[in-house]
Amino acid sequence: MDPAPLIIDCDPGVDDAIALFMAFARPDRFDLRLVSTVGGNVNAETTARNACIIRRIAGRLDVPVHAGARRPLLAPQAVASDFHGPGGLGALSIPDAVDPLASGHAAQALVDTIMAHPPGAVRLAVTGPMTNLALALRLAPDLPSRLGPVCVMGGARREGGNISASAEFNIYADPHAAQIVLDAGIRPVFMGLDVTHEVRSTSRRLERIDAIATPMARAASELLAFSNHVERTRVGGSAAPLHDPCTIAWLLAPELFETRPAHIEVETSSPLTRGHTAVEFRLGPESPANALWASAVDADGVFNLLIESLQR
Ligand code: BDR
Ligand code: CA
Repeated sequence: MDPAPLIIDCDPGVDDAIALFMAFARPDRFDLRLVSTVGGNVNAETTARNACIIRRIAGRLDVPVHAGARRPLLAPQAVASDFHGPGGLGALSIPDAVDPLASGHAAQALVDTIMAHPPGAVRLAVTGPMTNLALALRLAPDLPSRLGPVCVMGGARREGGNISASAEFNIYADPHAAQIVLDAGIRPVFMGLDVTHEVRSTSRRLERIDAIATPMARAASELLAFSNHVERTRVGGSAAPLHDPCTIAWLLAPELFETRPAHIEVETSSPLTRGHTAVEFRLGPESPANALWASAVDADGVFNLLIESLQR
């Protein structure tokens, strides 16, 4: 099987960085066309810089990084630096100089790359607020008919929220963008907190990563240790969830997940429940399926995939 063209749109972010490593390490499965970044966990300049740092650790300077939206479409900006550190990459050391970005806005790069391939060819993983994808859909309304499988990290049903009582961070950060994506007819697969909270960096799993001697594994080990420290000190748990890598895991091995057709709407007007995802499984003419909702995961399988990638 030829490697599949892939774009990763992200806001690194500790777990975005792990997702990037997983994809960078698999040229046998992914023809990674570009990485695009968006303001999210930290500001847009910093997420773009972080993607370049992760790219260098992975030894993949062949992959262009395009910076994208600096602000959400309409909502006030939100960040999650409490969870990712002020620089977004936990305690990882930041070099004085980083490799250059590619020229051109991320949203335009998404459009150009998807349109340059046959319909259905380009896969897309979105692991940050969906601002760039929403902008790309506005630039090119025929994009849905050209996109291949899309997997996004966002939303919550059983699990409530992580940035507020009822919202998950990525959807909260740009609820209007998420609704535009849901209305576009793409039918993305949603990796929400219901599954990502099942995929935890337990000490047994981290020991397996610590035992790998590659530069990517050493960086991953530091990043995951930072997340576990935050989990212990801020959340009261012991093992942090690994959100964003679930998107890459689904693209590599969808059989690790159970998904259900769902009609999803995003709360865009209430400040109290901003970004809440109303995930409805009772489908009908008024509530047709506009997404697939991940409802169960083989967490060991996801970690095995991550470990396999870091060993390469
Ligand atoms: C999501 O929010 C971000 O903080 C993480 O990178 C992940 O994409 C989890 O809610
Ligand atoms: Ca993210």
